[in-house]
Amino acid sequence: MTTPTVAAQPIAIRPTHDSRLASVNFDDIPFGRTFSDHMFIMDYRDGQWHDARIEPFAPMPIHPACSGIHYGQSIFEGMKAYRGVNGEAILFRPDKNITRFNRSAARMAMPAVPEELFHRALVELIGLDRDWIPDRDGSSLYIRPFMFATEEFIGIKVAENYRFMILTCPVGKYYTKPVAVKVAERYVRAFPGGTGFAKAAGNYGATMEPMRQAREEGYDQVLWLDGVHFRDVHEVGTMNVFFVFKDKVITPSTDEGTILEGVTRDSVIQIIRDKGTPVEERHITIDDVVSAFHSGELVEIFGTGTAATIAQFGRLGFKGEQLEFDQSRWSLSDFVRTEITAIRTLAKPDPYGWNEVL
Ligand SMILES: Cc1ncc(COP(=O)(O)O)c(C=O)c1O
Repeated sequence: MTTPTVAAQPIAIRPTHDSRLASVNFDDIPFGRTFSDHMFIMDYRDGQWHDARIEPFAPMPIHPACSGIHYGQSIFEGMKAYRGVNGEAILFRPDKNITRFNRSAARMAMPAVPEELFHRALVELIGLDRDWIPDRDGSSLYIRPFMFATEEFIGIKVAENYRFMILTCPVGKYYTKPVAVKVAERYVRAFPGGTGFAKAAGNYGATMEPMRQAREEGYDQVLWLDGVHFRDVHEVGTMNVFFVFKDKVITPSTDEGTILEGVTRDSVIQIIRDKGTPVEERHITIDDVVSAFHSGELVEIFGTGTAATIAQFGRLGFKGEQLEFDQSRWSLSDFVRTEITAIRTLAKPDPYGWNEVL
């Protein structure tokens, strides 16, 4: 973490006297619907962050003209804390999410959150709710930092006031079976000069109708193509994508600012390279994917993301054709999932220094 340039801002902590922990069934936790006891909040006004605090989780009043709701200055992050094999509370690569959050903030003309304060907020909040980190296989504590404009104003301009918050939710597995993915042929998610690299709320809002249609057609997710030619593969709704060939792996490069630079993506590239398999970060067209599938060169496809971890593609639908993947040929995705899980829970040593044990 970088050293703060101003005196460290204190975080006021008001703990709950009424924990809900005992009422949670950790064997059956639906994703994103159960919230831990506390939340972090701070407010930006007069060009500074104020009132950093941790409070019992609760609804909050919102002014009807809150500009974040109207004009979309709203960004978020997604990260996780894991329970180590010896009971440790472990944050996975928090520095990456903090940096990405501030990159999103810059794109949306929102104030940066000082890295040291952001990090301390995470450590204090997760420390207070550490008993909420599940220990079941495939479970973890999902962490949702977010920021939205709070200026009470109707009119389009850069807002002056913002709220930054962090919520946490214990979660189980996101996908329990291989995913069916539809290639987007009509809608686009991102294009050069847009906000594809940022975790801006509007990026996700715009994908709801295409997602709804894909679900209606029996798919779980949409695979986005480039927004200019509908040719290069970009990513899935909440995952980066990896194509496993017989002798190498290809993942779309993020150089055009149209793809979210996933923390899981970065970790998986490192793990695969260290296994001795080359990973190429480059443009890959959907036509290349389809022809490599037919020639037998393309063995598996998987998505990577904090929520889903590693999601294998069972089926890919494009132009009326269904590419069905042969599960008996999958091996790299299983290896990567086992490896990253072992590192995150310290079941094996973390050679990369990714884990921060609280
Ligand atoms: C659009 C998009 N792509 C990729 C990812 C994967 O990123 P990460 O591995 O950092 O979770 C996410 C999830 O955050 C996402 O929303």
